[in-house]
Amino acid sequence: MTGSPDNSHDGHVARQFGPQAAAYVQSAVHAAGADLDRLETIAQALQPRHALDLGSGGGHVAYRIAGHAGAVTACDLSAEMLAAVAQVAAGRGIANVATRQAPAERLPFPDAAFDFVGCRFSAHHWLGFEAGLRESRRVLAPGSVAVFIDGMSPGRAVLDTHLQTIELLRDTSHVRDYAAAEWLGALERAGFAVKAATTDRLRMDFPTWIARMRTPDTNAAAIRALQAGASAEVRGHFGIEADGSFQLDTIFVKAIAA
Ligand SMILES: C[S@@+](CC[C@H](N)C(=O)[O-])C[C@H]1O[C@@H](n2cnc3c(N)ncnc32)[C@H](O)[C@@H]1O
Repeated sequence: MTGSPDNSHDGHVARQFGPQAAAYVQSAVHAAGADLDRLETIAQALQPRHALDLGSGGGHVAYRIAGHAGAVTACDLSAEMLAAVAQVAAGRGIANVATRQAPAERLPFPDAAFDFVGCRFSAHHWLGFEAGLRESRRVLAPGSVAVFIDGMSPGRAVLDTHLQTIELLRDTSHVRDYAAAEWLGALERAGFAVKAATTDRLRMDFPTWIARMRTPDTNAAAIRALQAGASAEVRGHFGIEADGSFQLDTIFVKAIAA
């Protein structure tokens, strides 16, 4: 069965995120965090000429980098997200952020167009994870730095299955939270040399996590049922709370375009 463009995965992602642009601009877990502070410190030290915020969503990476870069391009599948980024940047008097609508897997930029890439909480949505990483590498000048941040699978099968299942129920455009080993292998195959990789935990507040993606009530109830029936190992690892809030593993990778 072949889908029309509207039924494509990328169309589905854009439909999921577009109407939620304002929610992603305001989202506390996206607008702030130790990971953003760390990414900004790296950009500040490098002072890139032209940085790419790939899968920019509400633009939080772009706003953080803008003060340390000559120019920043925020790139996303969703036109509505990019309209929100342009509006926020103008409202904050940030003049060096431009927007470009494109899929990570087919970037409309020449080879070596950028000297910094920041990509935060986007790769788990990509239809082509490895293709997006290859494109990130292609558009970076050799020796330049890329920072990838994302939700991460804990790796162990029983935990992985739980995580991917609740992610898919919450957002039917979810593809995969990759495990650390999957990230490192894919980055190497894409032509990156990994300089540092660290993991962390991020508390996902269940009511806002669900509301941000407009998860249907039936799917939210299914997630709660899965959590209620989860084993001690699963409950313990994710720190599942009475209201469904839980701890998401995250990964932060600093890599060099080899
Ligand atoms: C959770 S939001 C990003 C959050 C943002 N980077 C931040 O730090 O707040 C995920 C974004 O990835 C975008 N996205 C998903 N798949 C994509 C793809 N294949 N290419 C480009 N953008 C994509 C979505 O449209 C969405 O705006």
